Amino acid sequence: SFLAATADRLDGKHILVTAGPTHEPIDPVRYIANRSSGRQGFAIAEALSRLGARVTLVSGPVALATPAGVTRVDIETAQEMASAVATALPADAAVMVAAVGDWRAAPAAQKLKKGVTPPALQLTENPDILAVLAHSAQRPKLVIGFAAETEHVIAHATAKRTRKGADWILANDVSGDVMGGEANTIHLVTADGVERWERMPKVEVARRLAERIADALQQDTK
Ligand code: CTP
Ligand code: CA
Repeated sequence: SFLAATADRLDGKHILVTAGPTHEPIDPVRYIANRSSGRQGFAIAEALSRLGARVTLVSGPVALATPAGVTRVDIETAQEMASAVATALPADAAVMVAAVGDWRAAPAAQKLKKGVTPPALQLTENPDILAVLAHSAQRPKLVIGFAAETEHVIAHATAKRTRKGADWILANDVSGDVMGGEANTIHLVTADGVERWERMPKVEVARRLAERIADALQQDTK
């Protein structure tokens, strides 16, 4: 039937999804985090699974249930996320939705104590998981990133697509908004140009993206 045929569109495909924030420890009781809820990434994992894909969801700390049929790998730091992504390969496609912490501290072994001078954090840049994956020998055929921007949305997203070696970037306009909301305003940036999607719920963004991924993997084009 028509329904059965569409439900199997991603049958036999393995798709990797990253989602949520990372926690970068400062000491045994404190960390640097961000406002990512993980909802967009989890919705994408669910939508891909519903189209028949085998989905590995590498997730930072979030308060969300694992979507049915999805294999979830929980991590805390960016470095742990990078390792989990490498372990999950090979994959036919990767959708990097995580808000990866850009910097990590060298965590103190013991809880920092108040003193005369507040502690100064020495930050180190984390590996760019998306860029590393896109340039790796095991590069998935389709590599997709997100870019949450507050200004110059399309320019920043277009530059990120090229710099990171991604096929597609979903630019998310978060100006006047907060991460963790219910809806997203997306511009899909590809080699062919920019496509504006109307503001829609995150689950609808997920369904639409999953269909586009199925199109691309079936047609062998991006
Ligand atoms: N990303 C990643 N690893 C990182 C940083 C980002 O995999 N260390 C991925 C995100 O999952 C997202 C894309 O790269 O798919 C864009 O993330 P973003 O934070 O917007 O880009 P940055 O290069 O970190 O630039 P900036 O935060 O300065 O805007
Ligand atoms: Ca960043």
